[in-house]
Amino acid sequence: MAIRYWKEKQIFSIDTKNTTYQMKVDSCGFLLHLYYGAKVNGAMDYLLTYADRGFSGNPAEAGADRTYSLDVLPQEYPTWGTGDYRNAALLIQNADHSESCKLQYAGHTIKKGKYNLSGLPAVYAEENEAETLEIYMEDCVSNLKVTLLYGVVEQLDIITRSVIIENHGSENIIIEKAGSACLELLPGQYDLLSFCGRHTMERTVQRKRIGYGSSVFESRRGTSSHQYNPAFILADVNATEDCGNCYGIAFVYSGGFRFETEKDPYDQVRTVMSIQPEQFAYPLNPGERFVVPETIFSFSQNGFGALSHNYHNCINHHVIRRSFQKKMRPVLINSWEAAYFDFTGETMLELAKNAADVGIDLVVMDDGWFGKRDDDNSGLGDWEVNEEKLGCSLGTLIEKINELGVDFGIWIEPEMISEDSTLYRNHPDWVLQIPGRSPVRSRNQLVLDFSRKDVRDYIFASICKVLDQGNITYVKWDMNRSISDVYSHVNVRGTVLHDYVVGVYDFLEQMIQRYPELLIEGCSGGGGRFDIGMLYYTPQIWCSDNTDAIDRLKIQYGTSFGYPISAMGSHVSVCPNHQSGRITPFETRGIVASAGTFGYELDLMKMSEEEKKIAREQILKYKEMEHLVQTGDYYRLVNPFKNNNHVLWQFVSKDKKETIVCGVRLHSEANPHVYLFYPQGLDADMKYEDIATGKVYTGAALMKAGLPLPLTTGDYQSIKFTFRAVEK
Ligand code: GLA
Repeated sequence: MAIRYWKEKQIFSIDTKNTTYQMKVDSCGFLLHLYYGAKVNGAMDYLLTYADRGFSGNPAEAGADRTYSLDVLPQEYPTWGTGDYRNAALLIQNADHSESCKLQYAGHTIKKGKYNLSGLPAVYAEENEAETLEIYMEDCVSNLKVTLLYGVVEQLDIITRSVIIENHGSENIIIEKAGSACLELLPGQYDLLSFCGRHTMERTVQRKRIGYGSSVFESRRGTSSHQYNPAFILADVNATEDCGNCYGIAFVYSGGFRFETEKDPYDQVRTVMSIQPEQFAYPLNPGERFVVPETIFSFSQNGFGALSHNYHNCINHHVIRRSFQKKMRPVLINSWEAAYFDFTGETMLELAKNAADVGIDLVVMDDGWFGKRDDDNSGLGDWEVNEEKLGCSLGTLIEKINELGVDFGIWIEPEMISEDSTLYRNHPDWVLQIPGRSPVRSRNQLVLDFSRKDVRDYIFASICKVLDQGNITYVKWDMNRSISDVYSHVNVRGTVLHDYVVGVYDFLEQMIQRYPELLIEGCSGGGGRFDIGMLYYTPQIWCSDNTDAIDRLKIQYGTSFGYPISAMGSHVSVCPNHQSGRITPFETRGIVASAGTFGYELDLMKMSEEEKKIAREQILKYKEMEHLVQTGDYYRLVNPFKNNNHVLWQFVSKDKKETIVCGVRLHSEANPHVYLFYPQGLDADMKYEDIATGKVYTGAALMKAGLPLPLTTGDYQSIKFTFRAVEK
């Protein structure tokens, strides 16, 4: 039993393999947080400290007890209006415009299996893999009922949280802030790791000490964004890759979010993950309910590496669609950097011929195949095949490509519209646009109102019409701007952005139902919507529009903290690189791209015979290791953000019998130093053979004494070691 309730003390204790999470209903009926961390036995309520704190008020339930104040006590789901002046998880505006809500315990249920959230992505599990705790809370004045949901995947050290808010009263209320979860940490010093970035440079790692006061990371863009990713790590100040306590907090949501940390004057740290509240005001009429998206927590006492493994395992086995969990992904060639908008059906066919020649599985026809779309100023919304450009019907093109033994995939951007399109001319009111104001253009396009079902239905029907024209096994779902001008012609202002996200999920769900075998790769100008919500529908996401192998070292490193390698779209592109102008060896581009779902993004027709030969080998080698990319444990060995001579990473099979260390030596040195590297996660007693040299080492020797890197010359040289267990 992962979840236990100790009636006498009214304590809930959640135990996973290595962690304990506890909370308690106190004498006043409030739900206080007690502990989250390494596994412990017994009740942790001794950690609660009651003291008379000046200017921290006391709720009526405490009577004359001035030592009882919600302003300083750790809580599970703090609301505004209880005398707690810290960041609240829930802010309710009542019918009389007062902002107040006091949630008290009303009961609970413990269930087998993991809860689902209607209309929202969430961790799923078999009945015997997870348990659910539902705690019922009530505000007795407004009759608001709030269910706190806890999902526990015991073996993976994963605890999920979500909230259902129901109006059982007789008056309309407004949810002004909807927190998914709050986590309070014991007094102490903590660092916060966040993953910030920009278009073409996503998820760079920032580590900052948490100081007094409140600090906020948020996306106001309507999407999870390139700028601030909705995954965070709180860590002991001395935590490293392989030691120290750390907590992961990741939102299963693809819209705007707010993540707050607040250190109070007593050194307690509160974190709250919520839907971005500034453009949110959700009316809840009597009888209605609102489901707050899920947050996934995990704790590791062995540093960031182990924490990442928990997330990777959780996403790979409990978020990614079942049918893709173990399915090897196609090696693909994408037409974008090969041809941009300048292609015909013949170009696609030539790409496919060359793809077949080097062993690529699938050709993706990127942007430019529909409507009037020869550049990025027009055509979005008109999802009709431009047969003139292709020189034939889509069905015929796909057949010809399939005859070559190559699969076919296509790019779409369903949420967008160009003003220069038939769709816009017919339905100008289908876009997000404030009446009387000129909307903000971005990439010269506007955003369709996906909070509206009629709009979604139209786009869905037109996209299905395309997908039904042939054997399409892959779709790249793009979204190339941030949302602005939040105004819907039919929906209430404060609901639009959230309903938009739910609309996108609904669309994706319908697509999956209709095309269960279709592999959808998410994309938003590269990695602008790289979040667990999207991964529920799209098992892989194009990691970045930056295909430069050296920049990718940082992007993929940062992404790997919260997301599995099997989810990161990563391609070999041409040199000089189109984004950075950098020149790197072809092998190096291959090594970096093989830490992800592998593919190419270049004009195969322009490749030299020598490059084709290397590509052929690259693909074979990738196929030899792709099971490790999909299912192995990933270790970040050397950090690209430190001024190191090289960057290294490693995959280890779950049975520890196979491991691959890959990397890039960044700078050549004359009369070079000897650099040792230290593989991890091996069986110390096992003997491992280096496949290239035939030399045999013990796991202990490799992990403790290390192995010298080869002395190479030239910048940006690739590194790869493959070891296989030979005997115990
Ligand atoms: C975005 C994507 C690219 C490409 C273009 C097409 O930028 O990230 O990979 O698909 O759109 O317009």
